[in-house]
Amino acid sequence: MSDVKFYYGDNVPLEMHKVRIIQKLNLVPIERRLAAITEAGNNTFLLKNRDVFLDMLTDSGVNAMSDKQLAAMMEADDSYAGSETFTKLESKIEEIFSKKFFLPAHQGRACENILAQSFVKPGSVVPMNYHFTTSKSHIVLNGGFVEEVLIDEGLNINSEYPFKGNIDIEKLKAVIKKYGADKIAFIRLEAGTNLIGGQPFSLENMREVRKVCDDFQLTVVLDASLLADNLYFIKTREESCQNMSIREITRAMSDLADIIYFSARKLGCARGGGICTDNEQLYLKIRELVPLYEGFLTYGGMSVREMEAITVGLDETMDEDMINQGPQFIAYMTQELQKRGVPVVTPPGGLGCHLNAMAFVEHIPQNRYPAGALASAVFVASGVRGMERGTMSEQRDEHGNEPLSNMELLRLAMPRRVFTLSQVKYAVDRIGWLYENRQLIDGLTFVEEPKILRFFFGKLAQVTDWQTKLAAKFRADFGESL
Ligand SMILES: Cc1ncc(COP(=O)(O)O)c(C=O)c1O
Repeated sequence: MSDVKFYYGDNVPLEMHKVRIIQKLNLVPIERRLAAITEAGNNTFLLKNRDVFLDMLTDSGVNAMSDKQLAAMMEADDSYAGSETFTKLESKIEEIFSKKFFLPAHQGRACENILAQSFVKPGSVVPMNYHFTTSKSHIVLNGGFVEEVLIDEGLNINSEYPFKGNIDIEKLKAVIKKYGADKIAFIRLEAGTNLIGGQPFSLENMREVRKVCDDFQLTVVLDASLLADNLYFIKTREESCQNMSIREITRAMSDLADIIYFSARKLGCARGGGICTDNEQLYLKIRELVPLYEGFLTYGGMSVREMEAITVGLDETMDEDMINQGPQFIAYMTQELQKRGVPVVTPPGGLGCHLNAMAFVEHIPQNRYPAGALASAVFVASGVRGMERGTMSEQRDEHGNEPLSNMELLRLAMPRRVFTLSQVKYAVDRIGWLYENRQLIDGLTFVEEPKILRFFFGKLAQVTDWQTKLAAKFRADFGESL
């Protein structure tokens, strides 16, 4: 894909696939978008898809599947125990990750629940490059806490640093020294670090983390949900890996982890998840929770059809032409927005294009949820649905205090192979317009605030009537256009 040069020099990402099944989209008028976001309590999770034009909420479970995946789903062996479909998936896991033991689960957070229940006790610490919402919640629910040991550059929104998801080795050692190795449940390394803008870590960094963990006999857990993007970035940004195949990089990473878990809603472009390890003792420790929470050991809450699709999807993840589509579209969108002055996270990561709400709407204080307000404004302006990744996505501490997020991001996820370049251009156009009219955007306040994972179903109201003014300006500038 990246090797294709354009004669006139205007290089754009070129898809190495063709589209053979399509789904009709609706772009409803701005008046309906305004009503829809109000009905949804300004929470993009609560929008009805019939009101959404480009659904960039997430890449979870919504990536386009291949013809081979769909074909495999027709041949699934539907049995509760001992299904041939499970054996195929287990063998594929062993082939790719070289891990003998595989435990299926219905999605990524189910793996996190099982791992947290198995290893986290009251007072346990889990150092990690950066937290993810569900991974942190499960650790906290089991009485533990998270220590982030990300390199400082990771929180620098605009940077040239290619591996902003790296662990700071000195910070990691300091945390081990502070609490003592016996208090550490495990070290969690998240590939394609979600909440800092889909940023990767390097293979070299993982090797250094492994060395420290060997010195202190600590378990390394790799969250491989966003592994595909991380693999692409290692291949294209890490000089010492340029001659390695994607399979070889995967294997090298896998050899450095004791346990790997993943959401197959992301990795493998289907719907499911799983945990694998080569260590029989660890396997036996976590195994018994699978039938309790997920289902029997040969399906773990997944449908056999999805398991077939994951087997093929994992194999396709080893193809560079397949995994580069997401990062290249994201890089394109990021660069086009930069040309219009829109503040974005750089370098472009995986998963999606991330708008820096702290700079986009710098007049909105963090306790008025700038990234949430921007998500709402982007939807009104364009019908594009993004996801707040900032203070709204945090949760209050035990005293009811609201921690302010390190970053206020609006994530515009790029489900793999779903959108065309002209749709990306449309999103860029409307976001550019919104940036020029950013002074019209104001904050939000909670009117319904759940205690746990409030961003999923909390409801908010605008602090002033800014959305009506935004819609009026849209009509003035775009006339009758949708
Ligand atoms: C890095 C990471 N880990 C874990 C999860 C949880 O996976 P799931 O949504 O399948 O529960 C996600 C989901 O977005 C994720 O991005």
